[in-house]
Formats: sequence, structure tokens, C-alpha cells
Amino acid sequence: MLKRISPPAGLRGECRPPGDKSISHRAVILNSIARGRSRIANFSPGADCWSTVSCLRALGVNISGQPQPDKPPVLEVTGVGLDGLREPQDVLDAGNSGTTTRLLSGLLAAQPFLSIITGDSSLRSRPMKRVIAPLQLMGAQIWARGGDSLAPVVIRGGRLHGITYRLPVASAQVKSAIILAALFARGNTCVEELQLSRDHTERLLRSLGVSLKMSDGCIEVAPLVAAPPALDLVVPGDLSSAAYWLVAGVIHPRARLKVINCGINPTRAGLIEALQAMGATIEIERERREGDEPVADIQVESSQLRGIDISGQMVPRLIDEIPVLAVAASLAQGTTTIRGAEELRVKESDRIDTIVRELSKMGARIEALPDGMVIRGVQRLRGAEVDSHQDHRLAMSLGVAALVAQGTTTISEAEAVDISYPGFWDELEKIRE
Ligand code: S3P
Repeated sequence: MLKRISPPAGLRGECRPPGDKSISHRAVILNSIARGRSRIANFSPGADCWSTVSCLRALGVNISGQPQPDKPPVLEVTGVGLDGLREPQDVLDAGNSGTTTRLLSGLLAAQPFLSIITGDSSLRSRPMKRVIAPLQLMGAQIWARGGDSLAPVVIRGGRLHGITYRLPVASAQVKSAIILAALFARGNTCVEELQLSRDHTERLLRSLGVSLKMSDGCIEVAPLVAAPPALDLVVPGDLSSAAYWLVAGVIHPRARLKVINCGINPTRAGLIEALQAMGATIEIERERREGDEPVADIQVESSQLRGIDISGQMVPRLIDEIPVLAVAASLAQGTTTIRGAEELRVKESDRIDTIVRELSKMGARIEALPDGMVIRGVQRLRGAEVDSHQDHRLAMSLGVAALVAQGTTTISEAEAVDISYPGFWDELEKIRE
């Protein structure tokens, strides 16, 4: 699909981001192994989370609900307990979703049957050794192509034992895979993170009554003795989806936007802090809690930005927002440098390469580094023909750039947004003035 966008005179209104993708995956996985029925409201409409739902259905979990065009999906999950998952009759299809593949690898490593997880060509090129290696240390029989590196992932589940493991990369997916496996293992498991990654798994487990001990950056997981009771929840809006409206509202010269009902978990909120450090006017309003997750409304308006340096602990807190942050940095005064973000190279596309390539076509002064990028602000971007590389976050970032570019921008493979935000292009039309 081609999307043509010309810049509006202004941006005004309220945006409601879809349910958080990371929390949706975890909510349906954990409720599947809980005891009893649960209702998950505001479940993500994105294709990735529905890949997790269809894998769990293939594993014998009864889940009702489906994506709907005009309202947020509601799921009803009948938990099967700790030993209720069943061997799937076919290969599990995780589509484009790294979270589905890695989290389910952890869960299935401990189930007494064979499963195989595969996905699309992007997924089959993403690194799986990072999850396979610690699971093998726990005693799992798990293999993949290319020396256990690439999906399909083949799992002959069985008895696992606890390990002490220091994560070599900051990855919430790997951390969560180990935690899921550890819930079924013999003995305790300790996972140590050098850089804090998103902690939704830990928070959801706490809400389910399973508390993990934390000491000195080490998460200690004890095996479950019984299935926790199922948990109803309302998934907060996705800050990674709201990110596009936050940046659009800040960089457009005549804008005032409010994002309603958005998760602001500190392990995810790096973009808000980075934009504030760049001089953006952002207000957090009506702070509240949805279960164990902080939620708020966020108001932004046109601001003059200046360049900043981003590296270290900040990077995992805004890793998915770097493409759209690069759009903001392209219009800031001075230079923005992003380092320590080599993980971008193994996302749905090589996001260092793809964002540099596509924003350059629009007149941005942006250079790739092995682990990040350097961006020198320009006065204006110009419309161009650009490509999403079938990466949802690229498509949406380019959509935001198009809102402030001179002339028309055409984005090819724009349907990629469906992976996390199917209503994105409609929402973009709604806020135009
Ligand atoms: C996610 C973790 C991050 C993030 C991804 C979602 C999760 O990936 O980029 O979009 O839900 O755990 P890594 O674990 O690879 O850093």
C-alpha cells in the first residue's frame, strides 16, 4: 500500500493509542497458564499480539475475541493451569513477532512435548541464540538453524533446572523467556541485568500474586507450586505507539495534541525524558494506575528542540522510539548523537540503516554509526518517495516526518503499521487541521 501525505496547517486533538503490545503479549501468555477465566480489555489490535493468541490457541488454550475495526479488542481466556498446554498439531506461526517467538520459547522449553516456532522472513533473520543459549543452560532441548541462531526454533520440552544468568544484551524478551522457563524449573533462577529493560513481566507476575525477589539488579524466580488465579485487566495505551503523536505534536510548528490513557512505566518512558531534555513542552496529567502499571494523559505542543546525546542506561528505555526520535532530532538545533544502540540493527529491519537511508531522502543530515547515529538538525525536511522496509516503526516515523516536510511524501509498504497500530493512518487524518 502506498500512503501519500502532505503537511497539514496544524495538528489538533486527542489521540488514543492502542493497548500496549508488550503488556498484551504477557497478559495473554500468563493468563493462559493461570487457573480460571480472565478478561483482558484494551488488548492490542496489532498483528503481533494476535500471533501470540493464535499460537496459544494451537497449544490448546481457549481464547475468545478478535480484532475489530472500530473498538479495542476484549479477550476472554480460559487458563489451562500449569500442566494444561497441549502439543500443537502443526508448526507455530509467530508472524513478524520477536516477542511471541522468544517468550514462547521460554514457556515451551518446559512443556513435555515438541513444538516448532517459525515466522516471516524478517523474523527468521533475527537472532535467537540469545534466548536458546540460556534455555540450554537450564537443560532445555532446543535448537535452531545456523548453529542455533535463527528460527524456526525447535523445542523438545522437558524438565529444566534453575540457573544464575547474567544477560549479555539488554533484552526484556530474553529476560522474560528465562523467567517463564524458571517458573517451571527445579530450583531457583537468578537473572541479572546490566541495563534495566522493560519490567512488564515482573509487574504482571506480581499482580498475579507471584512475587519475584529483587536484589542488586538480580531477579530471583522461584518455581510455581500451583497455578495462580487468572487476572482480569485493562491494558494501558502503548507509549511506543503514542510516541508518534508526541513527536508530531512537538515538531509541527502549529500543534497541540493530547494522548489519552497512555502507559508511562519508567522502564519505557525514555522518549518523554529525551524530548524534555531537548526542550519540548510535555505535560503529564491525571497520573493513575492500571493494575501495577502507571498510566497518564500526555499533552504536547509545538516546541523548538535542541540536540542531545543519548547512550547507556537510557537506550533500552527508548529503544523502539529511536526511529521517531531521529525525526525529531533532524529538526532540532545542533547535533544529536545516539550511541550504544546496536540492538537497532536486529529489529524488524536494521533500523540504523533503514532510518538513515529513508530520512536522508527527505533532506535530513543523518549518518550511521556502528551502534547508533549522528543527526545534525536542518531547517526543514522535504517530501520524498520513501519505503517502510516492511517495518511498522519505520512506516510510522516516516509518516510523522511527512507531517512537517515541504511537499508531498509517498510511503510504500505503508500497511506495515498493522503490526502494532492498525488505526495509525486514520488517526493521522483525524488530527490534521
Ligand atoms: C519487547 C522488548 C524489546 C522491544 C520489543 C518488545 C518486549 O525487544 O524492542 O519491541 O515486549 O519484551 P528486546 O527484548 O529484543 O530488547
